[in-house]
Amino acid sequence: MCGIVGYIGKKDACEILIKGLRRLEYRGYDSSGIALHNGRKINSTKSTGKIVNLEEKLTEKNSVGTLGIAHTRWATHGKPTEVNSHPHSAGDITLVHNGIIENYQKLKEDLIKKGHSFLSDTDSEVIAHLIQEENIKFDFERSVQSAIKKVKGAYALAIIHKEHPDKLIVVRNSSPLVIGVGNNEFVIASDASAIIAYTNKVVYLDDGELAIITPTDYVVKTISNKLQKKQEQQLEWNDEQAKKEGYEHFMLKEIHDQPHAIQDAIRGRIDMENGMAILGGLTSVDKRLRSINRVIIISCGTSYFSGLVGEYMIEEYAGIPTEVEYASEFRYRKPLLDKNTVVIAISQSGETADTLAAIKEAKNKGALTLGVVNVVGSSIARETDAGIYNHAGPEVSVASTKAFTSQLTILTLIAVYLGRQRDMSMIMGRRILSELQKVPFLVSKILENEEKIKKIAYKYAKFENFFYLGRKYNYPIACEGALKIKEIAYIHAEGYPSGEMKHGPIALIDKHFPSVILAPKDSVYEKTLSAIEEIRAREGKVVIITTKDVTELHSDKYDIIYIPKTLEILMPIITAIPLQLLAYYVGTKRGHDVDQPKNLAKSVTVE
Ligand code: M6R
Repeated sequence: MCGIVGYIGKKDACEILIKGLRRLEYRGYDSSGIALHNGRKINSTKSTGKIVNLEEKLTEKNSVGTLGIAHTRWATHGKPTEVNSHPHSAGDITLVHNGIIENYQKLKEDLIKKGHSFLSDTDSEVIAHLIQEENIKFDFERSVQSAIKKVKGAYALAIIHKEHPDKLIVVRNSSPLVIGVGNNEFVIASDASAIIAYTNKVVYLDDGELAIITPTDYVVKTISNKLQKKQEQQLEWNDEQAKKEGYEHFMLKEIHDQPHAIQDAIRGRIDMENGMAILGGLTSVDKRLRSINRVIIISCGTSYFSGLVGEYMIEEYAGIPTEVEYASEFRYRKPLLDKNTVVIAISQSGETADTLAAIKEAKNKGALTLGVVNVVGSSIARETDAGIYNHAGPEVSVASTKAFTSQLTILTLIAVYLGRQRDMSMIMGRRILSELQKVPFLVSKILENEEKIKKIAYKYAKFENFFYLGRKYNYPIACEGALKIKEIAYIHAEGYPSGEMKHGPIALIDKHFPSVILAPKDSVYEKTLSAIEEIRAREGKVVIITTKDVTELHSDKYDIIYIPKTLEILMPIITAIPLQLLAYYVGTKRGHDVDQPKNLAKSVTVE
């Protein structure tokens, strides 16, 4: 996730853009850049690291202009280097981009054949060249429309043209973009936080729309040139609320980001025809992956629990023996590995010290190492032999939410990839992938049920102990649910396989010790029903998360949260959502700072 900002008007654009970048820094930064039109030409300046580094490079000469665009980068394609930083230019065109272009490689190949040469590894530079190519035939506006029709993926773009010092064009598809409407000036940005200091009158572009903005006016059209009538809205947010898009906490915003984050994890990675996952990051090790006979997943905390789900997925669908281990244990054991073992490290931050040390140990023993990492260019991404990026965007809240469901999504793709290299049929591959494509929508359906989950959370916020129970694919999710409520609400909670209750833990159950039970209608549903009965027989209060097709569970006996149905392998992505919301609302009800829980850090870079 990157941040873009643009200005057109009468004022000094540079100052406004730099302030805007600062406000967007929370969206992640590894580099930044700015392009200003001084009336004659466009001057671009870029820098790695913090925005202050960019400011230091700005001189009287390169910072003049009343039209400009700027970008704070959070790498998705290509390392966080200066050359990969935005703005990107081709001929007369200069642009900034937030999003992911799915077909950039094919577009790039075609453009190279036409004589274009590229400086960066980014998908974004391709769009600049594509528009420049169209600009040979068309005017600025039509060349943007024509180029965009060829682009597949997510984008919010702000584009300027050397020969048009009074025009800013912005385009949107699946990445956020807001136009701030001032008095003879416009500020555009990825979100309102960069705009709110200048105006609270905004227009939100919808997917497939572009706006042609001059210092005095703006017109919104579709990519196919149909005029659009847009409603201007008044924002009542302050700066802080704008960063969180109006949500009270980053954690809640990130929970709500999940339909997009899951979509971004899937984007460009599905080959439906062949029922195969396209994982470009594994191309270099594809051959070796065909001969591996053992998988070990190493990770910590929430990432450990996604690893546990991965174990079930890979064993069931790829038929490869899989183990999951806490990285902090793995590094001190004498793990038995060889060249036929692949070690998959899962880490949101890519900087977790235990996971990093475990990777080094695995490499020393000759295993192939892969990373499932959210932060591009992070230590784990660099240390592993190959890997897959989540593209979930930066997670600001200490408690991991969207990175977790994104990891589950990537693990599903890995299971299909390894499965299709082996015995999985094309039909099965297609089935999983087509259901996976529906998951973002199913997640948004659960989020619509937030009020009901909040009510249940408030009812249970007084308890000091919880069991979280699940079976098979949902056992790791129960563990993750328990971790979430520990972190956010400071409540003692244990995640258990529901079948294990009778072997001891049930001794703790009474009316003061509630249980949250994951019981979707799946292959182990009947078994989970027995666990529910055992708990109720001991006066234990129960919150049940289940699918609507169950007939045995009734709301007069239990607090029930209904979730949509999907394939069993995909159910963990669905069941995780209500548990995140439960933890969030119990935590806020108890008055905690859920974004920065006590004693915890976002990135654990020490042992
Ligand atoms: O960045 P990583 O995924 O490697 O981090 C691992 C854990 O430290 C992390 O998941 C931690 O458990 C979070 N606070 C969970 O919400």
